[in-house]
Amino acid sequence: MKIQPSVRYSHTLLSQLVQKGDTVIDATVGKGNDTEFLSELVGQKGKVYGFDVQEEAIKYTKQRLDDKNLSSNVSLFNTGHENIEKLVDGPINAAIFNLGYLPGSNKDIITKPDTTLTAIKACLNKLKINGIVVLVLYYGHVGGPQEKHAVIEYAQSLNQKEFSVMQYQFINQVHCPPILLAIQKNAN
Ligand SMILES: C[S@@+](CC[C@H](N)C(=O)[O-])C[C@H]1O[C@@H](n2cnc3c(N)ncnc32)[C@H](O)[C@@H]1O
Repeated sequence: MKIQPSVRYSHTLLSQLVQKGDTVIDATVGKGNDTEFLSELVGQKGKVYGFDVQEEAIKYTKQRLDDKNLSSNVSLFNTGHENIEKLVDGPINAAIFNLGYLPGSNKDIITKPDTTLTAIKACLNKLKINGIVVLVLYYGHVGGPQEKHAVIEYAQSLNQKEFSVMQYQFINQVHCPPILLAIQKNAN
């Protein structure tokens, strides 16, 4: 067994915690890798909410899901994840964020500290007991280090009675190896 890179490990964690029929959020849809994965994970009776500010990303992902007959349990929103609080109904079991820019697309369109924190807080408010918010942080681009700092500082400040927070990263790799944060809501 090889130790999994952060992106792969984010899916491993989600597959261990998310069940058929669950409600989940993909906060940064992009090309839809996580959206497709979540749609399969929650199945026909589950629900996936996806957010991206780029129309191109939403259109691409819609087509990807249609081609695989996975659209029926997914609602895609061409708007920022800072609107999660008002657009997602009821409690959620999980959320995933892939922060940074979409590879192969406009590198100026990046996730930003303020809106990312607003979205994380909305997800934590909606999280069920044992539910999980997974974040993959890329920080090699302009603006990336500031977002990384803000997100880690916020995650570290969470009350340990309410949430368990894990950080996972290869620490001997060059080129800013992505950081995985996993925030799980504890039972009271
Ligand atoms: C690293 S990419 C996501 C990759 C994606 N998970 C995939 O499977 O391809 C980051 C995405 O966040 C999007 N984004 C930037 N600001 C956003 C915001 N405020 N709300 C939602 N998405 C945002 C970008 O448009 C970009 O598609």
